[in-house]
Amino acid sequence: MSDELPERPPVKLAPRPSNVCVCFHVPLHKIQAFIRQRRPRVTSQLSECFGAGTGCGWCIPFLEKIFEATKDDPNVIVDLGLTEEEYLQRRREYHTRINAAKMKDRREGE
Ligand code: FES
Repeated sequence: MSDELPERPPVKLAPRPSNVCVCFHVPLHKIQAFIRQRRPRVTSQLSECFGAGTGCGWCIPFLEKIFEATKDDPNVIVDLGLTEEEYLQRRREYHTRINAAKMKDRREGE
């Protein structure tokens, strides 16, 4: 029998956003720890986790997804389904849409 370890393909971990709430730098693991410890009854209580979701509002749908996925089992592994780059790109697009809507409202208000 050989002492050499069999060659295995490299394990690839799915990249994921480092911060779910970019405004307040709140990562997924902190949100999940908050859920395990505090057992919030509604999604909005996640705002008590370092202010998550109380800035631009971009992350609120993701907080809802995390809440729904973990409400029965807080230890479940949540996959947001986006890489860090995709997450931040969509957030930029969200801000572009919001800013365009605000400018339109201003023009129409003049
Ligand atoms: S990214 Fe969470 S409030 Fe802006």
